[in-house]
Amino acid sequence: MNRPVKKWTYQDRIIAPSLLAADFGRVRDETSRAINAGADWMHLDVMDGHFVDNISFGPDIILAVHETNDVFLDVHLMITRPDHFLPRFIAAGADLITVHVEPEADHDVSKTLAAIRAAGCKAGLALNPATPFEKVEPFLGEIDLLLVMTVVPGFGGQPFMEDMMAKVEKGVALRAERGLNYHIQVDGGVGTETAATASKAGANVLVAGSSTFSAPDMAAAITAIRQA
Ligand code: DX5
Ligand code: ZN
Repeated sequence: MNRPVKKWTYQDRIIAPSLLAADFGRVRDETSRAINAGADWMHLDVMDGHFVDNISFGPDIILAVHETNDVFLDVHLMITRPDHFLPRFIAAGADLITVHVEPEADHDVSKTLAAIRAAGCKAGLALNPATPFEKVEPFLGEIDLLLVMTVVPGFGGQPFMEDMMAKVEKGVALRAERGLNYHIQVDGGVGTETAATASKAGANVLVAGSSTFSAPDMAAAITAIRQA
């Protein structure tokens, strides 16, 4: 499939359902269901059982999604050595690849971000709830997206940590101050109410797993998050 042509900016409100909450026996149909329900991006959570205490899926599942859909693929790598696995995710059709800033991810953050961009992908940088904002500050000029985790990564269905909004606000302030241009994404516990909180703080990309895939009416759930 061709890469999407739309140029997303941080002025866009972007809803990214997380495939983690889908029926894994039908990932292609589940992706189509999300797109038909109004998803802008698909958020793909890759977990390796080392960086986080769970194992999800790898490049082959992402390729399966990519081969049947033109949707923008937002790949969130919760893995150690993301630099080592990068070429496989790029080949699988990722449009944006987000890596973690924590030392446990075991990579040279600047080098990885540069390698992602050199491959023609957008580069994202994530920080866990326990990681202070200062850790991402040196890299803000090297990213297309800042991911503020609003749960401890590893599992869907956890409650939204509202105190992370201070990091979102910091991301907004530094973006303006330094004349930068990156999306701000929140991930974990996002539903209608928390989407309003996150948007108010300045996040424009809202990842939502359980609140979309498990909703009785996915289109209504996505619309509600978009309008929150
Ligand atoms: C958590 C993942 C999230 C997760 C969110 O480790 O990074 O993307 O799928 O799930 P919900 O929206 O159910 O909290
Ligand atoms: Zn995620």
